[in-house]
Amino acid sequence: MHPLSAFYKDKSALITGGLGFLGSNLAHSLVTLGARVTLSDALLPLYGGNMHNVRDIRKEVHLEFCDIRDSLSMERLVRGQDVIFHIAGQTSHVDSMTEPLLDEEINCKGNLVFLEACRKWNPNAKIVYAGTRGQYGKLHSTPVREDHPMEPVDIYGINKLAGESYHLLYGRVHGLRVVSLRINNTYGPRHQMKHGKYGILNWFVRLALEDEAITVYGDGGQLRDYNYVDDVTEAFLLVGGRDEANGKAFNLGSGNPVRFMDMVKTLLSEAGSGRMVRIPWPRDRAAIEVGDYVADYSAIQSALGWEPRVGLPEGLKRTVEFYRQNKEFYW
Ligand SMILES: NC(=O)c1ccc[n+]([C@@H]2O[C@H](COP(=O)([O-])OP(=O)(O)OC[C@H]3O[C@@H](n4cnc5c(N)ncnc54)[C@H](O)[C@@H]3O)[C@@H](O)[C@H]2O)c1
Repeated sequence: MHPLSAFYKDKSALITGGLGFLGSNLAHSLVTLGARVTLSDALLPLYGGNMHNVRDIRKEVHLEFCDIRDSLSMERLVRGQDVIFHIAGQTSHVDSMTEPLLDEEINCKGNLVFLEACRKWNPNAKIVYAGTRGQYGKLHSTPVREDHPMEPVDIYGINKLAGESYHLLYGRVHGLRVVSLRINNTYGPRHQMKHGKYGILNWFVRLALEDEAITVYGDGGQLRDYNYVDDVTEAFLLVGGRDEANGKAFNLGSGNPVRFMDMVKTLLSEAGSGRMVRIPWPRDRAAIEVGDYVADYSAIQSALGWEPRVGLPEGLKRTVEFYRQNKEFYW
């Protein structure tokens, strides 16, 4: 039995971005725990919203197609919810540099519209924000703790940081019960597989399954921390169901960082197909590359007992298997 099943049973839970990767995986767990789940999503074309993501739970969830920038919709949706997982967002680092105003619209204005709706219509809801490791930007030291300076290297990182800051401010000033998770590179089932603009490891799974070349920039020696999506779901459930950590922001990490190149090798071996090619760093990618990233997740571990459980080889095995079975819905 899940330690939080008594908490979530019959609770009303809203997930914005609920048809996307993180949102839909979380939705499956919430349904299993007996929550009354509403998913809202604008199904914007570039992102990971996909009706197939909720095929198994379609009858158990309530769906609302709306945009987080629309205040009337958000005001209606947040009412009566016990826990809100605010996961919708513009997710591409690359696009944030070519379409900065769209990123600002969704990741700044959208967050304020959402928070204002909560402040006015449901100030008692528990709110979990999907922050990102991208908020740290250029690194001074690793492993990265939550008090590391935040100097984002792209518009996405700046606006996600603004989004987190809005949440924590609404916690301090208006008393909302907020927590932010600074999510790591996450991979697993139900991610968009249409392009490699974000979620690069998932994109590589597609390339490997299609027996295509996987391009590694430079020597591929940069350290990365990858989390399997089920571990991220557990973190969402934990912070959503416990109040000790309100007002805080937590890193997630793997505890087992790997070199980018070794991640690709592990994938090629799990998939049994694909190949690696190496080229010099393209200028636009080099400009927003932050070097080694290793998260220190000891804060959430000691506050709430969270720790990652699924290692990279096992996570990749499950991921490869999922897309082998479901590729027609994602390619
Ligand atoms: N997946 C990761 O590795 C990762 C890492 C760090 C942070 N995050 C954050 O987690 C969140 C979700 O990421 P994901 O990987 O699930 O991406 P995703 O693209 O699969 O999901 C995002 C969902 O939000 C929806 N959405 C986007 N803009 C919207 C809007 N204006 N109104 C309503 N819905 C909208 C999309 O349609 C999509 O279904 C993002 O905010 C992202 O910044 C993800």
